[in-house]
This record gives sequence, structure tokens and C-alpha cells, in this order.
Amino acid sequence: MRKKVTIVGAGQVGATTAQRIFERGYADVVLVDIVEGLPQGKALDMLESGPVVGSDASIIGANSYEPTAGSDVVVITSGIARRPGMSRDDLLFTNMGIIDGVTKQVVKHSPNSIIIIVTNPLDAMCHVALESSGFPRERVIGQSGILDTARFRTFLSMELKTSVRDIQAYVLGGHGDTMVPLVGYTTVGGVPVSNLIPKARLDQIVQRTRDGGGEIVNLLKTGSAYYAPAAGVAEMVDSIVLDQKRILPCAVLLNGEYGLRNLFVGVPVKLGAKGLEQVIQLKLSAEEEAMLKKSAAAVQELVDVMHKKKAAG
Ligand code: APR
Repeated sequence: MRKKVTIVGAGQVGATTAQRIFERGYADVVLVDIVEGLPQGKALDMLESGPVVGSDASIIGANSYEPTAGSDVVVITSGIARRPGMSRDDLLFTNMGIIDGVTKQVVKHSPNSIIIIVTNPLDAMCHVALESSGFPRERVIGQSGILDTARFRTFLSMELKTSVRDIQAYVLGGHGDTMVPLVGYTTVGGVPVSNLIPKARLDQIVQRTRDGGGEIVNLLKTGSAYYAPAAGVAEMVDSIVLDQKRILPCAVLLNGEYGLRNLFVGVPVKLGAKGLEQVIQLKLSAEEEAMLKKSAAAVQELVDVMHKKKAAG
């Protein structure tokens, strides 16, 4: 029997993710949204692409959670997207309520699922999902680092005119202005990138990576990125459903690793059938460690604001 993957939110990121997973063919897909007809229409449209793209998987849309029952992986993309001039943090309270409600439904119908969070502000929404689900940290994981790393690798590939496949990099930290591109671990065909690009230019590329989300928002004007985010989610789903044990940068709850505790921060992790199977501990430079601490402090700030709001009712 095929695995089952539910995607909550049939908007840009959710629908693109659904398409990527459906086309892989290894899982049946359920697409959920509150807008009547939207998930059903998109799912049927994708299903009808099956004969052409060669997928025998099923994909259905729903406005309720009964059809999602027994999902192996649930990807949560529901929420409002960032508009130009809006910071990720402006989204905090609206998306907090949405993620809380969705997570409770997910847990009710798929108590053994692994949840992947995509909604922004990412790290804060991971905290909401963890608390609302009561799941162990192994089963609540955020997508952010793959996207940030993919942007960094893209810009390096453009600069060096080298295949993206031969560029190894990690971007850690929070998914926001405090992300931490690890220049020291970035190699091109095994050669450290700092040997290939002068520091001043590398700094510009790092900055473009940090501003990568905003760059797309400014171009699109009516929404935020979705092709690359969906690609990142699909890579995580592959690793979990196919038990690939890939090492990918994801947001997970740290339990003392990197000197941080009880905070979701982007770090390299091993993803497999059990979800988070291992946190990979890289040795960071003093500067990188300071940047990661700063990133963690930014996440802590959001968590504190959310807890205050929750306590106030
Ligand atoms: N339950 C289910 N779906 C919901 C709910 C809910 N409670 N609330 C909103 N939605 C749906 C909306 O109806 C919409 O179809 O979530 C979808 C969001 O889609 P878009 O507005 O197209 O947003 P998108 O670009 O997909 O981004 C989604 O991912 O990358 C992040 O920052 C981005 O937080 C945003 C999220």
C-alpha cells in the first residue's frame, strides 16, 4: 500500500508541494483547505495529469480532515503569506491561531504522523505545532534551511558558473534575517569557497541569500516564493517516506545541541522513517556560533511574545 501524505493549505506552496509529491508517485496525497472547491479543483486537475506524467498515485481535495486519517506525513502550509513591506513577524498572531487549529485536527486523525511545518514565521510556528500536538520533537520538523541553502547554492553557482550539484553548503539558524550561512563548510567540488571568491563578493552573496525571500516578494508583489520552498519540502518528504536518511538543514527543537535548549533552530539533521533521527553537530567558528546564538535569541523573542499572548487569552 502507498504511503499517505496530507498537505494542509492548497495555496501556492501547498499546491506546488502536492504536485511535486503526486508526480513522484510513491504516496497518495490529500490536499486540505478551508476554501470550498479549491483543494478539490486543484487535486482533480493534478489527478488528470497522472496519465501524462505517469503517476498512478491518488490525489483528492477536502475541506475536512476525515479523508486525511492515517497520514504518514502531514505538511502544514496554511496561513496568510507575507506581502511586500510586511515582515515575517507581522504574521505571527494570525498564523499562530491557524497552526494551532490545524495541528489539533491533524493529531486527531493522524496521531502517528510526522508533521512538517512551512508556514511563517517558521521557527515560531514549529513551536506552536509542537505544543498543540504534544508530539515528541522527532515528529515536528520545520522546512527552512533547505530553501535558504538552495538560494545560497544558486547564487554561488551563478557566480562561479559551476553546476549547483557540485556546490555543498549549509545555511543554519532561524529562517529570517538572522540566518547563518556557513561559509566555512561551503565547498565547490571539494574546494573551500573562500579560496574561489574574494571575501567582499562572498559577503554580498551571503547578504543576497539572507534577503532571498524578500527579493521574491518584491518581484511578485502579490505573494511570496513557492517553487523553491515546495522543492525543499518534497526533499524532506522523500527522505522520510523513503527512509533515505538524508542529512538536510531543517528546523528542529534543540535539546542542548549547539548549546541551545527548547528552541527550534535550523541545523543539519538526519531525516528518516522516524522523522528526526539525529542532530548533526558541526564545529562552528566563534563568529558562526555568535550568529547562531543571535538567531536563537530572535526565535526566543517570538516564543515569549506568543506565550504572553496565549496567557492573556
Ligand atoms: N485551514 C486550512 N487552510 C487554510 C487555513 C486553515 N485554517 N487558513 C488559511 N488556509 C489556506 C488559505 O485558504 C490558502 O489557500 O492556506 C492557503 C495559503 O496559501 P497562500 O495564501 O497561497 O500562501 P502560500 O504562498 O502558499 O504560503 C503559505 O508558506 O512559505 C510560507 O510564508 C508562507 O506562511 C506562508 C505559507
